[in-house]
Amino acid sequence: MKRTILAIGLTLLLAMAITVPALAGGWAVITLDEVPGDVEANQPIEIGFMVRQHGVTPLGGESPVIRAHLADSTESVIVEASEEGEVGHYVGTLILPKSGEWEWSIQAFTGTQPMPALTVIEATVAVAESEPVAPTPASNSLPLLAGGIGLLGAVGGLFALQRKVRWAAAFVVIGLLVSGVGFVSAANQPKAEIEAAVAEVQEVSPVSSISQVELGRDLFIAKGCMMCHSHVETNNIREFGIDSGPDLTNLTASPEYLRLWLKDPRAAKSTATMPNLELSDTEMDALIAFINDK
Ligand code: HEC
Repeated sequence: MKRTILAIGLTLLLAMAITVPALAGGWAVITLDEVPGDVEANQPIEIGFMVRQHGVTPLGGESPVIRAHLADSTESVIVEASEEGEVGHYVGTLILPKSGEWEWSIQAFTGTQPMPALTVIEATVAVAESEPVAPTPASNSLPLLAGGIGLLGAVGGLFALQRKVRWAAAFVVIGLLVSGVGFVSAANQPKAEIEAAVAEVQEVSPVSSISQVELGRDLFIAKGCMMCHSHVETNNIREFGIDSGPDLTNLTASPEYLRLWLKDPRAAKSTATMPNLELSDTEMDALIAFINDK
């Protein structure tokens, strides 16, 4: 009997030991310094971010883990971030080895926050080597040579014509033809070469045509807004939400009003608990476009 009570007691203690930190410690919001732009395979990307307990107080002394996984594969990358700069700021270096769509998240404190998916492209190092270069003299010397010989032939033909040689006229015509073709192709060659090189570069370079609204949605995830604000566009991404702020799915407001909130919530409302996430002007513009896109 005593044993059973002891066992139950121990189990309860164990259960508390597991759940209490989560309850006592609460939750944190992760805010990326910036959303990574075009990412190339095997190129190191620096991921800098803030961890704020309850979305407000910078939280030092953590060992956050960045996890990335290539969609439809077993390929994954795990790196630990270390504290760098101000309290609560961490940096980790992510190297994604293959091109494709990578899903990733950052685990810090008691939770994991998913981040906007990254599209990784093949490294463009090979293209950089074959960038348009001025054609070397050697590359168009052959047509030029043909042009010169043709011209010489034509001139020789003219002399022969003066001396009434029978085949002289034919010589002039053939000479002019050869020289014409030679010079024209010499003139066209550099242009054709540059056009081919430009076409090649255009074909391989990434087309980053992400819209303001799409960028705003990525920021809504990456800056941690989705942790405190429910929004139909991001609710399927987060694993859990705090929803301490209002649902923003149906909110529309003037850009001035929204900018005030994003720039400094306390200036918008003195009792505001929403944190100042130190957003840049371009980030605020994109977030406003996203919020007002109904
Ligand atoms: C830690 C939680 C938290 C985070 C993170 C957060 N907010 Fe808020 N937000 C709030 C709360 C709470 C309010 C309500 C006012 C108050 O008490 O601060 C609010 C208010 C707002 C409002 C005003 C809504 C209205 O009805 O007028 C907007 C807009 C807003 N937040 C957008 C954002 C955006 C965009 C982000 C991300 C860049 C963000 N918030 C991040 C908690 C948060």
